[in-house]
Amino acid sequence: TDPMIIDCDPGHDDALALLLAVGDPRARLLGVTTVAGNQTLEKTTRNALRVLALAGAVDVPVAAGCDRPLVGDLTVAEDIHGVSGLDGPDLDVPVAEPAAVHAVELMRRLITGAAGPVTVVATGPLTNVALLLRRHPEVLPGIRRIVFMGGSTERGNTTPYGEFNIVTDPEAADIVLRSGVPATMIGLNVTHQALATTEIIAEFRGLGTRLGGVCAELMTFFAATYQRVFGFPHPPVHDPIAVARILDPSIVRTVAAPVDVELAGAYTRGATVVDLHHRTGRPPNADVAVDLDVDAFWRLLMTAVRNLGR
Ligand code: BDR
Ligand code: CA
Repeated sequence: TDPMIIDCDPGHDDALALLLAVGDPRARLLGVTTVAGNQTLEKTTRNALRVLALAGAVDVPVAAGCDRPLVGDLTVAEDIHGVSGLDGPDLDVPVAEPAAVHAVELMRRLITGAAGPVTVVATGPLTNVALLLRRHPEVLPGIRRIVFMGGSTERGNTTPYGEFNIVTDPEAADIVLRSGVPATMIGLNVTHQALATTEIIAEFRGLGTRLGGVCAELMTFFAATYQRVFGFPHPPVHDPIAVARILDPSIVRTVAAPVDVELAGAYTRGATVVDLHHRTGRPPNADVAVDLDVDAFWRLLMTAVRNLGR
């Protein structure tokens, strides 16, 4: 598969996305950039470094990006991801320093330096990605596609119709969706099919490695917060589905559709408005995920974590 850059805000499910991208033999992870979202930038950056260190992926460069959305203030998801942004497992591991450049600059360098087109995977608010597109339009031809976890064809999780990553920075999402770069939207309508059930968590623990245990603890903490906040018995594991789509496109079915981001809206700022029935007559600007092969997804993630050993 194409080399990829992951822009993320770890985050329990972001951590699993990173493990998938370093553990799957087909994946070529060029770099990781971080953004404020689930927690502050300082915390999400440290978390990305911890996850990569635990996975032994110490050669992957990590750069910190924007510490707040393009417009307005940051509201973190401490109720879901805890004080550290990655509460639950023991993540005590020596960590490297982040690169001495901004995330947008690291992305620019990685894309311009790559032999072929790069896929950008975004599992946090789209602030860094939007800035990259605006500030360095020359990189556009070097981006094969932006695959982002965010939005929904249905209801939201942060407001009744708004999903967290898009609600956190609606203007950034709007810039990305209007950029003309091919985009794939992995929304709540599919991520809510990937539930970390008690059996799934037990299977990760059963791998018998420290990393398998870390995954089990991450999902156990996530289960407790989803139970408390939403009353869900099992938490949806959103972000690794974006990576899975790149590694094995057959895992996620998509349909091309026009997607708009509600920027005003009395009650719906940050909602994705997806014209699945082509009522607007406008050309599609995204491939929108509509279905997930749940078993294949878990097999992919579990195999990647097993491959990492450790
Ligand atoms: C998204 O929001 C974050 O809390 C998760 O990491 C995921 O990227 C789900 O709405
Ligand atoms: Ca995330």
